[in-house]
Amino acid sequence: MNVLAFNGSPRRNGNTSLLLAELLRGVRDSGGDAQELVAQDLNLKYCTGCLRCNMLRRCALRGDDWPALSQQIHQADALVFASPVYFHHLTAPLKKIIDRFRSFINVQMTPESIRHTPWLPWNKRFVLILSMGSSDSADAMPVVDLFKFMTGILGAANTLQVLLGTRLAASGQVARSAGELAALYGKLGLPAHLAEEDSRHNRNLLQSCYDTGKALMAASGDDRQRV
Ligand SMILES: Cc1cc2nc3c(=O)[nH]c(=O)nc-3n(C[C@H](O)[C@H](O)[C@H](O)COP(=O)(O)O)c2cc1C
Repeated sequence: MNVLAFNGSPRRNGNTSLLLAELLRGVRDSGGDAQELVAQDLNLKYCTGCLRCNMLRRCALRGDDWPALSQQIHQADALVFASPVYFHHLTAPLKKIIDRFRSFINVQMTPESIRHTPWLPWNKRFVLILSMGSSDSADAMPVVDLFKFMTGILGAANTLQVLLGTRLAASGQVARSAGELAALYGKLGLPAHLAEEDSRHNRNLLQSCYDTGKALMAASGDDRQRV
C-alpha cells in the first residue's frame, strides 16, 4: 500500500498538519509507504484551460513538477488531501492540483450535460482531511461536494472518506489539552465549559486519523492499476 498525501495548509504545525501526521503515522506503523507533499512547495503551473489534454491524454503544460507528480498519483493506492477550510473551500495550492486532474479525464459534451471518461481505470482510496474554525460543518460542504464529484468522475471504484475537525481556529489547537483550550476559549469569548468536551473530541479525531491510516493499510493493494 502506497499513500500519497497533499498538505494544503500554509501552517507547518497547524491543525491540518497534525491530523495528517496521525494518518501517515498509522500507515507507517502498519508497514505502508507514505509520502507527504506540501502543496504550496510544489512547482506547478495553473491549468490554462487549453483543453489539449482531451487529445494528448496528458497535460500539455511543460516545465513544472506535473509529469513526475502525475505518475506518482497514478502509482498511489490511496490519495490523501488535507486542507484548512478557507472561505468554504480548500486552499489555493490544492485547488491548483485538483484543476490539473482535468488531464486524467476525457470530457465530451452531450446535448444534456458533460460525459467524463478517465483515460485509465481508477480504483483508489481517497481521504479528505479538513480543519475549520467554525463549529458548523456546513462551511466545509463545498469541499466535500467537490471531492464527491471528482472521485465520482474518476470512476465508481474509488472510495472517499472525510475526516473533519471543527472549532479549530488557532494553530495546533487540535492537540491542546483541556486546560490549554479553556485558556484559549477565554480569550476567544467561547464558553470555558466547551473545553473539556472539545479536547476529548479532538483526541478522538486524531485517533480516527491514525485508525484511518491503519485501515488504508489493511485494504489490499494487489488489484490496483499501475502505469
Ligand atoms: C483565509 C482564511 C479563511 C478561512 N475561512 C474559513 C471558513 O470559511 N470557515 C471556517 O470554518 N473556517 C475558516 N477559516 C479558519 C481555518 O479553516 C481554521 O483556522 C483551520 O483550523 C486552520 O487550519 P491550519 O491550522 O491547518 O492552518 C479560515 C481561515 C483563513 C486564514
